[in-house]
Amino acid sequence: MNASLNRRRFIGQAATAGAGLAFGAAAAAAAEKTPGTAPITQRAATAAGRATSAWPISEQRDEDALISVLRSGKWGRTGAGGLRVKEFETIFAERMRARFCVATSSGTTALLSALGALNIGPGDEVILPPYTFVATFNAITNNFALPVFADVEADSFQVDPQKIAAAITSATRLLLPVHIGGTPCDIEAIATIGRTRQITLLEDACQSLTAEWRGQPIGTHGIGGCFSFQASKNLTAGEGGAVLTNDEAFAHQVYNFHTPGGGKPGASWGRSANYRLTEFQAALLLTQYSRFEAQQTQRTENATYLATLLHKIGGIAPARIPSGCNRSGWHLFMMRYDAREFAGLPRAKFIQALAKDRVAASSGYTSLNLSNHVKALAANPHYQRIYGVDTMARWVARNHCPVNDRVIEEAVWLGQTTLLESRHEMERIAEVIVGVKKRAGDLAKA
Ligand SMILES: Cc1ncc(COP(=O)(O)O)c(C=O)c1O
Repeated sequence: MNASLNRRRFIGQAATAGAGLAFGAAAAAAAEKTPGTAPITQRAATAAGRATSAWPISEQRDEDALISVLRSGKWGRTGAGGLRVKEFETIFAERMRARFCVATSSGTTALLSALGALNIGPGDEVILPPYTFVATFNAITNNFALPVFADVEADSFQVDPQKIAAAITSATRLLLPVHIGGTPCDIEAIATIGRTRQITLLEDACQSLTAEWRGQPIGTHGIGGCFSFQASKNLTAGEGGAVLTNDEAFAHQVYNFHTPGGGKPGASWGRSANYRLTEFQAALLLTQYSRFEAQQTQRTENATYLATLLHKIGGIAPARIPSGCNRSGWHLFMMRYDAREFAGLPRAKFIQALAKDRVAASSGYTSLNLSNHVKALAANPHYQRIYGVDTMARWVARNHCPVNDRVIEEAVWLGQTTLLESRHEMERIAEVIVGVKKRAGDLAKA
């Protein structure tokens, strides 16, 4: 099973959060070898009789918007095309206080457009965290650049700025931090590193819509930010993406990269693709957006409340929100589980016990840097030719991220749709965890 299959299974069966949440032993075994996300235990929760929040939400106005595009005959943005993509770009840029937005067909193609615009290519090193969805890595290897992992902080799950600084070499062309779960990493420290070392900073903001660092929206702290509107995301059209930037020249290059024959002023690198968003996707994003702010408020209130409840339970540590974060995008509610405080109850059994009590959770990402997908790069003939066999062998050793190894073992996620439930449901989740803790000794033996 590959990562995207994992994700689609999760979305199809869970209708819950994000970057993927788990289903049992077979999935877990497969996941050891493939980078991805353990799907959420939703099936068990549903079997136990509770209807979880439906996702995505659609009403008559979504249907009307799609039919209207259909009947207009203007299904794309080019030529005598429609204006919905442009309208979404304007609204999204204004909301995120960015000067420019280029909408793309996915978060992956937002990343590819940004890396293409920067002309990242063979010989370039790009620094990313290991605690991310595999798409961040793929965007780098699609350009035959070398991904270099910078380890994370155990308490926040976010990339550690000091590890980024330590990973820089004379070949480093780009810093590509990820705001995982929707909460910002320390983007201020990372931007300072970028400025001091004169290395471009691009934010993978695919999970962090409307998050802010000291009042400044995520995605605007470096050259640009890439967003995803894929099916699990807090704002979705099934697929979709966007690049935000305040830099006009970069905006033009992203635009020209994402559509053949672009047409905006500026020099070309001789490379481009077709990564355009369709008018159907834009129409859906516009109607979905009309509900988005209220949903984000509810997610924020619930996540904040849930964190205060869970902090009281020994052995459960909600992810630390870095002090500069004044607003999280709350795509995931991430926490660490300490089995020692739960009578040695293994995490998988803890998650199963939650599912029996109708709390859908996941063990989160499997190890990206230790996955076969990532290791395969060392044997890739193109990479061996570009970087040399010895460098690629050393690269495997360079990927060692001990803190991430621990986080992978301890993580437990709740998804964004759980955060759309009632305040009472947050209390019930905390009570269920307390109940599992009380029974942990027996559950561990079962
Ligand atoms: C951190 C991160 N980066 C990149 C992506 C890629 O986005 P998409 O699935 O829209 O291609 C995702 C989303 O799935 C993501 O979570």
